[in-house]
Amino acid sequence: MIFTVAIDGPAAAGKGTISRAVAERFGFRHLDTGLLYRAVGVKGGDPVAAARGLTADDMNRPGLRTLEAGQAASRVAAIPEVRAALVEFQRRFARSEGGAVLDGRDIGTVICPEAEVKLYVTASAQVRAHRRWLEVGGDEAQVLAEVRERDARDMGRADAPLKAAEDAVVIDTSDLGIDAAVDAACAIVAARLRG
Ligand code: DC
Repeated sequence: MIFTVAIDGPAAAGKGTISRAVAERFGFRHLDTGLLYRAVGVKGGDPVAAARGLTADDMNRPGLRTLEAGQAASRVAAIPEVRAALVEFQRRFARSEGGAVLDGRDIGTVICPEAEVKLYVTASAQVRAHRRWLEVGGDEAQVLAEVRERDARDMGRADAPLKAAEDAVVIDTSDLGIDAAVDAACAIVAARLRG
């Protein structure tokens, strides 16, 4: 069975948690595509060469989940040649046998427009910054500023900007607990699997 669940949205909206839960519930493979861009950003040197030569070791480096790696990822993700170098791997993952969940910014719009399910998971910038701050600590106003900066860059870039696909179902997690958000996502996938 070929079945793709595309989950897009801004940082700290709950994509990761929802993606992992959907993958586990339905026995699908999961790819966090942000990690590809994080690995390129963290590697340093020429980002296009880094993207073309990305290895499993690069994907397993420590520090990929930090705020700094997120900012570095957002910067290299605006380079069209970097994005192009990562397309094939993501498409193959999405369309290989057995069902796949991919989360990122452009999965439903660019990587897999034919995805059987498209979700756009979002929340207000304040709520997302607060969640991120609970994880990383520090100055909450600074975390909010970084969230806004990353949103502006990801939504404003010319190549594959972050936006909801026209046929995506929007899940706003601002006032929704994580269990309710996971249940909503799983219900949509289950309905589509039933046809
Ligand atoms: O989802 P994340 O926070 O790990 O993503 C880090 C950055 O990578 C994000 O700010 C923009 C970029 N990204 C992208 O451009 N396209 C994707 N499919 C995933 C991430």
